[in-house]
Amino acid sequence: MKRIFIAETVKHVGETVKLAGWVHNRRDHGKIIFIDLRDKTGIIQTVIIPDHVEVYEEAKKIRNEFVIEIEGAVKERPQSARNEKSVTGGVEMEVEKLLILNECKALPFEINKDTKDVSEELRLKHRYLDLRTERMKSNIFQRGKITKFFRDHLEKEGFLEVETPVLGKSTAEGARDYIVPSRIYKGKFYALPQSPQQYKQLLMTAGVERYFQVAKCFRDEDTRGDRQPEFTQLDLEMSFVEQEDVMDTIETMLIKTVTELYPEKKIQAVPFPRITYKDAMEKYGSDRPDIRTDKNDPNLLAFCWVVDFPFFEKDENSATGWTFTHNPFSSPKPEHMRMLMDKKDVAEILTTQYDVVLNGYEIGGGSIRNHRPEALKKVLDIMGIPEDRVQREYGHMLEAFEMGTPPHGGIALGFDRLVMLLQNEPNIREVIPFAKNGEAEDMLMGAPSAVEERQLAEVGIKIPKVAAKDKKPAKKKIV
Ligand code: AMO
Repeated sequence: MKRIFIAETVKHVGETVKLAGWVHNRRDHGKIIFIDLRDKTGIIQTVIIPDHVEVYEEAKKIRNEFVIEIEGAVKERPQSARNEKSVTGGVEMEVEKLLILNECKALPFEINKDTKDVSEELRLKHRYLDLRTERMKSNIFQRGKITKFFRDHLEKEGFLEVETPVLGKSTAEGARDYIVPSRIYKGKFYALPQSPQQYKQLLMTAGVERYFQVAKCFRDEDTRGDRQPEFTQLDLEMSFVEQEDVMDTIETMLIKTVTELYPEKKIQAVPFPRITYKDAMEKYGSDRPDIRTDKNDPNLLAFCWVVDFPFFEKDENSATGWTFTHNPFSSPKPEHMRMLMDKKDVAEILTTQYDVVLNGYEIGGGSIRNHRPEALKKVLDIMGIPEDRVQREYGHMLEAFEMGTPPHGGIALGFDRLVMLLQNEPNIREVIPFAKNGEAEDMLMGAPSAVEERQLAEVGIKIPKVAAKDKKPAKKKIV
């Protein structure tokens, strides 16, 4: 007999079916044993009576989270015993055959309760158990649904999903890179991408015109509630567009996502209000203002755009005293292009950058890019980057910009942050299936970890004795 899912049992009343899953709960009621069986689609109450002697004896051994396979007849429950809250609350199964597929030793925490109050280290160490709980299951389920919704929507809008490399080149992009030693070229390193920024721009040179990717990004920076060393962006780039076109693409997609997948939620204002960086700082003291009119309402989504960021800010580490605020590839607002090219009133130059903010979190950001090499060169010149470094780090981009690169712009959504807010979770670890802890460790696998001497030798790396010890950073509170 072919196994069916628990949610399908309602269509099989009066028939004998086979189910498989986890024991959610086991209750002994005098002679009768009740087992609530759970699979990915739901939970069903099953009944084991002493008449089926072998099944009954086997059922006595069963504990929570055993994996079992059962066969039996699906029956309507009597009116008084129906559970209207559950899809399968109107039926139950009388078990005639039972097979234990895997046992489960004592659990580090209970699965049939919310694990909110369980130690997070323990939850991360046994993430495969944590993910069985209803809330966590719903988080990864919804995450998958949102990804699918984005993919379908963008495909309809003429976007193509293109994968970009994970082994790339280390360039100054704002955060610290994770670097990977090369075995073939000893002493040389790849860098994991902080974002697909340069590749997506090169795809515009390649004529893709509308690109998107559900992209893994890596940044070696301190972990926080809304920051992980490894996170996901919904990244996109478009050719022949202006600021309004990119903003409109994202705004439309976000509104549709909420309407279709979270109908219980209310978007505070449509179109999303726009606030200049200056006003946001003056009025809210933040460039990611929380403009919610009611902060107690878990279903209120207050999106807004922050625009008109200054292009450059003072930086004591820069040769000229200036660095970019967001992205060296951004172009200034069209009316400020002259100022950039003349290096005039640098502090006054505004960029085409736009950030999308939700309930006080920056959930995305992007800009229109400089597609002319002179403009990018001028940005690097203002920052005082010497010519040899310009050629080394940006030479490939400057060359591509000399070979028919169309005007283009894009944006990246911080996908984990968006899912966190839609799921009403307090931090992004709750919506990342295998999250790292506050000290950037994978508690489940035990990464980072020491590697074999042989592996180090292969990539030509020697580690001084003291550093080779498995040093752990001081414990910080996870926020
Ligand atoms: P930016 O650096 O602003 O832009 O990143 C885009 C969005 O990604 C999210 N984000 C993070 N989420 C979790 N953990 C992190 N460590 C983390 N860092 C950033 C934020 C942020 O808004 N290439 C440009 C985009 C572009 O210009 O098209 C970029 O990466 O929600």
